[in-house]
Amino acid sequence: MRRTSKSLPRERSARFGYLGRQTVNMTQLKNDTFLRALARQPVDYTPVWMMRQAGRYLPEYRATRSQAGDFLSLCKNTELACEVTLQPLRRYAMDAAILFSDILTIPDAMGLGLHFVEGEGPKFHNPIRTAADVERIQVIETQQDLPYVLDAVRAIRRELNGSVPLIGFSGSPWTLATYMIEGASTREFKRSKEWVYNSPELLHQLLDKLALSVIDYLNAQIAAGAQVVQIFDTWGGILSDSAYQEFSLAYMRKIIAGLVREAEGRQVPVILFTKGGGQWLESIADTGCDAAGLDWSTSMADARQRVGGRIALQGNMDPALLRAPAAAIEAEVARILAGFGRGEGHVFNLGHGITPDIDPDRVRVFIDAVHELSRPYHAG
Ligand code: CP3
Repeated sequence: MRRTSKSLPRERSARFGYLGRQTVNMTQLKNDTFLRALARQPVDYTPVWMMRQAGRYLPEYRATRSQAGDFLSLCKNTELACEVTLQPLRRYAMDAAILFSDILTIPDAMGLGLHFVEGEGPKFHNPIRTAADVERIQVIETQQDLPYVLDAVRAIRRELNGSVPLIGFSGSPWTLATYMIEGASTREFKRSKEWVYNSPELLHQLLDKLALSVIDYLNAQIAAGAQVVQIFDTWGGILSDSAYQEFSLAYMRKIIAGLVREAEGRQVPVILFTKGGGQWLESIADTGCDAAGLDWSTSMADARQRVGGRIALQGNMDPALLRAPAAAIEAEVARILAGFGRGEGHVFNLGHGITPDIDPDRVRVFIDAVHELSRPYHAG
């Protein structure tokens, strides 16, 4: 990768104090198709990975999770977190691995008491309800507060041994704040929206602390060996146009400006995924990210026309297609590839995470279809 225009001066990374702690062996990547596509460089085929590719649709994941006891213990067990990261790669020819962890590790480290209730998703013992709660929140220091995440990154890099790049990730400040304020998953976001409209200053205080925490968290993951980072803004799309700009995008822009964008002599691309964010693609492209993740509600052809000259695009098959017959999956892959068209800058993915009910054989159909059907779009 030769793109240096956006690389930051060396002192920048020194400022974060991570240089010299690199323990990862700087192996040459055997498959750098994903990194090339993110840099909009030529590739032989369109690379593909899946959000939530390690998860409950795989029987081997369920077995390892029960060995760990529960989901959080799995995240905190270096060897088992590494194992489940690699499970989908043993079955399928994916072009990237993603760290097995969760976006809610940050609020957990802030003392909110994360736990998962079977069938109900994440919950916090101590949600944020008052100004005093916001005041008490401390910006995290990843090395001290979340060492298990960095241990997992290092172990996964060792095990991958240069086969494919490793993606690190974080939630966006807004998405993290919604869970912290609601205290659990929600469909309505009543409390979070109350904060947007009734206590915007308090919300900004919380988002500021979260943004500083995410910068530290992602830079620490990069120093430990993450070769790409993705920011999951799962709930940006529930905001009004102006509230999105003010409460979600502004903080992601701040994070991107604070990231170390080069490690091991390579660019570290940043992917920004706002679910339901298709209408804001131009503003997303202006944040300085390298790629935007798209959900299935945006047309790949339109997206490319709007911002494809500036950033790469990742997506965007509806995960529900994985319940359809093989021929329907192949037809949808073909349709999305044709939508992007010939040329560089497309990473194939689902428009959101794979769900637990999917037959693992359908995933193979999907991955193989992307690889086979995309070759004509890159030849010559
Ligand atoms: O993509 C991967 O394979 C990496 C692992 C990963 C997980 N969570 C594992 C997980 C990633 C990248 C996440 C991100 C995450 N976590 C997001 C953003 C992405 C998205 O899906 O929108 C969000 C909103 C969370 C919070 C979270 N964690 C929820 C709402 C849930 C419960 C949802 C459910 O499906 O039950 C989790 C739990 C979770 N995170 C599981 C996994 C594999 C399922 C836990 C289990 O094994 O029981």
